[in-house]
Amino acid sequence: MSQPKVLLLGPPGAGKGTQSSNIVEEYGVDHVTTGDALRANKDMETEHGTPREYMEAGELVPDPVVNEIVKAALEEADGFVLDGYPRNLSQAEYLDDITDLDLVALLDVDRGELVDRLTGRRVCEECGTNYHVEFSPPEEAGVCDECGGDLVQRDDDNEETVEERLDVFEENTQPVIEYYDEEGELVRIDGEGTPEEVWADLRAAIDDAN
Ligand code: AP5
Ligand code: MG
Repeated sequence: MSQPKVLLLGPPGAGKGTQSSNIVEEYGVDHVTTGDALRANKDMETEHGTPREYMEAGELVPDPVVNEIVKAALEEADGFVLDGYPRNLSQAEYLDDITDLDLVALLDVDRGELVDRLTGRRVCEECGTNYHVEFSPPEEAGVCDECGGDLVQRDDDNEETVEERLDVFEENTQPVIEYYDEEGELVRIDGEGTPEEVWADLRAAIDDAN
């Protein structure tokens, strides 16, 4: 079986990062995620300004910046899980030109639940492992189970920025979902179960597609 090429779509907080970790572990593919790449380069000067200005407002970073990140990462990957891209139709068209996908999966979660997931998320500063203060707490508050690093809140996980990110998703990324749906390529996964339930459905969809 060749290495799967999976596109994971879903609103902020749907569990894309959480499930991407499972895919990486199970299939040994690369995790290509524009969000993490941009967070690692927040103050990079581009002709459009720095990523930070956009991210802290919950807005999309301009297409040329993210397109370049994705192109470079996909060229190096055998299989991959792509998370956080494409977020508008122009990025979707760009992606069509540079790769073929085995599976396009949507993690479906209602907006009310997303706000709770995001405002309660904590992330390890050292290794990036995701937690939730209520839904998946670490053994010791504020300390990563995996590596002992400090758990921090992302700058854009306050309630005001979360609402803005959800609005941006509905306006810009919902059309991307319709685009793949019309092509008959979209597999919908119920994202509201436990992380383990969501993973069981997602893994079955990947095995079916590959
Ligand atoms: P990015 O980092 O991609 O953020 P996002 O898409 O808003 O998604 P999140 O990372 O917030 O959520 P997730 O789906 O990964 O959820 P997670 O698994 O962590 O982008 C950030 C910013 O970068 C954007 O706003 C934009 O400015 C910029 N950007 C990035 N890509 C771009 C692009 N292509 N173009 C332009 N700009 C771009 O889970 C969330 C929480 O829920 C966690 O606490 C987790 O523990 C918990 N959880 C997970 N699953 C479950 C479950 N099943 N039940 C209960 N809790 C759960
Ligand atoms: Mg994420």
